[in-house]
Amino acid sequence: MSTQQRIEFALKATLQFACEAPCPPRLRYAMQHAVFPGGARVRPRLCLAVAAACGDENPDLADGAAAAIELLHCASLVHDDLPCFDDADERRGVPSVHKAFGEPIAVLAGDALIVAAFQTIGLCLPMAPLHGARILTAVAAAVGGPSGIVAGQAWESEDQVVLSEYHRAKTGSLFSAATVSGAEAAGYESEPWRRLGDLVGEAYQIADDICDMVADPATRGKPSKRDSALGRPNAAQELGVHGAVRRLRALLAEATEAVPDCPGADALRAHIERSALPYLPKELLVAA
Ligand code: IPE
Ligand code: IPE
Ligand code: MG
Ligand code: MG
Repeated sequence: MSTQQRIEFALKATLQFACEAPCPPRLRYAMQHAVFPGGARVRPRLCLAVAAACGDENPDLADGAAAAIELLHCASLVHDDLPCFDDADERRGVPSVHKAFGEPIAVLAGDALIVAAFQTIGLCLPMAPLHGARILTAVAAAVGGPSGIVAGQAWESEDQVVLSEYHRAKTGSLFSAATVSGAEAAGYESEPWRRLGDLVGEAYQIADDICDMVADPATRGKPSKRDSALGRPNAAQELGVHGAVRRLRALLAEATEAVPDCPGADALRAHIERSALPYLPKELLVAA
């Protein structure tokens, strides 16, 4: 099975139990709408790329972690698009969940996806109690209050925000959960993998910030210029578009150097180099 197939298969299996009868139909459709068809699936692909680089000792555990991380990402997007956050009508080229199903169901669908993510990891615990428990803790920290996604979104309600702190919490945290979980699933000591995820996550958010400023909404499948409209910190605004591209390239270079020792390090470095740049408009890649 290809990596893409592994991810889709694991997500389908999770949604099947998370939406089974007697789940209210609108909640079920909203959850499915949030997860399928997917976007770039960049976080689960990173998780499985790390697991593969480390020997993929326990592919079922790696798949469970990858699916849980993607579900948490999808849930964060459902909540992020709500009128009380970014008020975005479109996501992945289709109406956002609250536009399609209404705000109450969107809030609940996001909540249910978060719970389903942790159930998915819970189901893996009997096969690998120690590594599964460490994955659970790492993934929970990535979404939690002090420094996870919840914190990242909460920084938007503060007067003073440090851009890198905001990016690390709202985006980097789930990327580092992906690298840590991939290594842990393969039986590796996972702490050395955290920095790699932080760096790739920050690079990815900078790419998103640049696209928010300059890319065509039709190509992105979601609105552009939301950050300036809502007064959100944005790397391209702070550093200028070309400064942000340079920062992104520097982060990716740092990330390739941060790959810990493992049998598949070269393939993983190649994966990382491809991980954020393709999302940028082509003319920026030439100019930077
Ligand atoms: C969008 O993430 C939000 C960010 C943190 C940049 P993605 O660009 O990974 O969204 P999808 O999953 O591909 O739609
Ligand atoms: C989303 O960040 C990050 C989350 C944790 C949800 P953005 O608000 O910058 O992402 P997009 O541009 O809407 O995808
Ligand atoms: Mg947002
Ligand atoms: Mg948004």
